[in-house]
Amino acid sequence: MDLKNKNVIYVGGFGGIGFCCCKSLLEQGVANIAIMDVVEDAEMLETLQAINKAANVFYIKMDLTDVENIEGAFTEAHDTMGRFDIVVNGSGIMNEHEIERTIQINLLGVIYSTFAALRLMDKSKGGNGGLIVNISSVVSLDAYGAYAVYTASKYGVNGFTRALSDPYYYSQTKVGFITICPSTTETQMVSSLRMDALTTFDRMPPLPKTLCNNQSPENCAYNLVTAIKTAKNGSVWILSAGILREYHYPDI
Ligand SMILES: NC(=O)c1ccc[n+]([C@@H]2O[C@H](COP(=O)([O-])OP(=O)(O)OC[C@H]3O[C@@H](n4cnc5c(N)ncnc54)[C@H](O)[C@@H]3O)[C@@H](O)[C@H]2O)c1
Repeated sequence: MDLKNKNVIYVGGFGGIGFCCCKSLLEQGVANIAIMDVVEDAEMLETLQAINKAANVFYIKMDLTDVENIEGAFTEAHDTMGRFDIVVNGSGIMNEHEIERTIQINLLGVIYSTFAALRLMDKSKGGNGGLIVNISSVVSLDAYGAYAVYTASKYGVNGFTRALSDPYYYSQTKVGFITICPSTTETQMVSSLRMDALTTFDRMPPLPKTLCNNQSPENCAYNLVTAIKTAKNGSVWILSAGILREYHYPDI
């Protein structure tokens, strides 16, 4: 997909990965970005706006634990931008001590946000089609004992996103879906885990190889934007140690 003049909604755009992605999307010539997040960050918004003064970079408050709020945020974005072409569901938390909240934000939030976007993008219902990008994690392709609840939420994201990418739906809606699976990326999420040890139990198994491949949020964002530009409907992408590669599920 050519990013020039596209309208984007980035849910979680003030997060570590989200902010770097929004920067990169603006550098690649997108026309407008609506950032949906739970709290506004005026400084980040200003930095993003400065990248392209002709673009409209604006904030809409959205709490993924509140379904009505999600619906309202998408309606507001649609009213402001007229149409949107790309939606990134890029929020998330990693806190094994908050089980309901983890599932609510990481899985139910992504589900409701996706449906809210789809109803306005669906070509068979007057929309323009486009791409929905759901951010999962490498733990969704394996399993890591120290973050069992987070892992469960991300397995759900993969199943949900891949199910909606069914060519039967795509032929009608013209909305494609891709799943993004980063490995450990140096953001606030990872630094708070290190400080507060928010693990499933108080003992923690050694880190598997996949989670030792740390990367910067800039590297992750670069590869995420490359995936958006090149990926086909239904594809699943691993972003690890600064490298982007497609993941293929084994046949069953
Ligand atoms: N950092 C990593 O190592 C890593 C690895 C794999 C996957 N991921 C995934 O990448 C995505 C971004 O992670 P990050 O590292 O940038 O994290 P981050 O903590 O820097 O950002 C998370 C974002 O989610 C938002 N958010 C939290 N609660 C919300 C709510 N109730 N409603 C709306 N937004 C809410 C935050 O405000 C923030 O903008 C998440 O889905 C995360 O699970 C991160």
